[in-house]
Amino acid sequence: MTTATEPVAHSATAPVLTGHAGEAVAALGSRVRFRDLYDEVGSTVYHDLAGRDTHEVRELLGRLRTLTGPVLELAAGTGRLTMPMLSLGREVTALELSASMLAVLRERLEAAPPALRQRCVLLQGDMSAFALDRRFGAVVLGTTSVSLLDAAGRVGLYRAVRAHLAPGGRFLLSTVDAADTAADTAGAADATEVALHYTAASGRGYRMFEQWSPGAQTRTVVVLPEPLPDSGPVDVCTTEIGVLSPDLLTEELVAAGFTVPVRHALPDAGVRHRDVLLETGVAP
Ligand SMILES: C[S@@+](CC[C@H](N)C(=O)[O-])C[C@H]1O[C@@H](n2cnc3c(N)ncnc32)[C@H](O)[C@@H]1O
Repeated sequence: MTTATEPVAHSATAPVLTGHAGEAVAALGSRVRFRDLYDEVGSTVYHDLAGRDTHEVRELLGRLRTLTGPVLELAAGTGRLTMPMLSLGREVTALELSASMLAVLRERLEAAPPALRQRCVLLQGDMSAFALDRRFGAVVLGTTSVSLLDAAGRVGLYRAVRAHLAPGGRFLLSTVDAADTAADTAGAADATEVALHYTAASGRGYRMFEQWSPGAQTRTVVVLPEPLPDSGPVDVCTTEIGVLSPDLLTEELVAAGFTVPVRHALPDAGVRHRDVLLETGVAP
């Protein structure tokens, strides 16, 4: 495992919350401390909740088995997808913006067998603007994380990915299949908010809200501890994510010089949306 790091700031802005999440946060008053879901506090919560989730792993590994060469993983987080790709025997360069998320991944690698660890390079960087001195058989951007970028950021992402794909290489990225989602929530009592209760691997409890008005450009995820502590500050982790349809991404990718992506269905993410894995390559 080799590492290159440079400081990159993550912000923790107070989001405008409605519904049950808004009520829960308002009831806490001045005890609330908003956190970005990927900062030094949020990264631990994220990893506890989602770090070992197997969503999209089987499909991703299935596609990678058909490809050769090293893998570049973007927005690698705490390694939810990195570790299975390493276990498949691949060389993986894992690029991630948040130093805190990378720190958790580094710890996981340090605890892993040397043969696996030695096939991984960790890089702190921005997926919308990176320049590495090698090319890859596959570039992977999972967990619908393309939707963390705005339109200008995606233009930078596509340019950088094209420049790093080896001949015949593939770009694999997942996104929310908004059409399916709208159909699923059409009859729901409250189509704008889903609340879930989790007991994580650590034994800690969490209450998670996902707020999204069908048709809106963004969705907001809010995580609170459950039960709430009796006194003292309460960390409320949030992240705002764009909602990018496969059709929009297809249009953007083709305009950026990629082939029309093949769509691979992904199983239900367990919240309220279905995701799809897009597979594309550089157009001839
Ligand atoms: C939903 S998490 C996914 C992490 C991991 N792939 C997983 O499946 O658990 C999104 C990740 O994208 C990272 N991220 C956000 N903006 C980024 C950017 N511009 N460049 C690289 N990583 C970014 C966040 O810090 C976070 O770790």
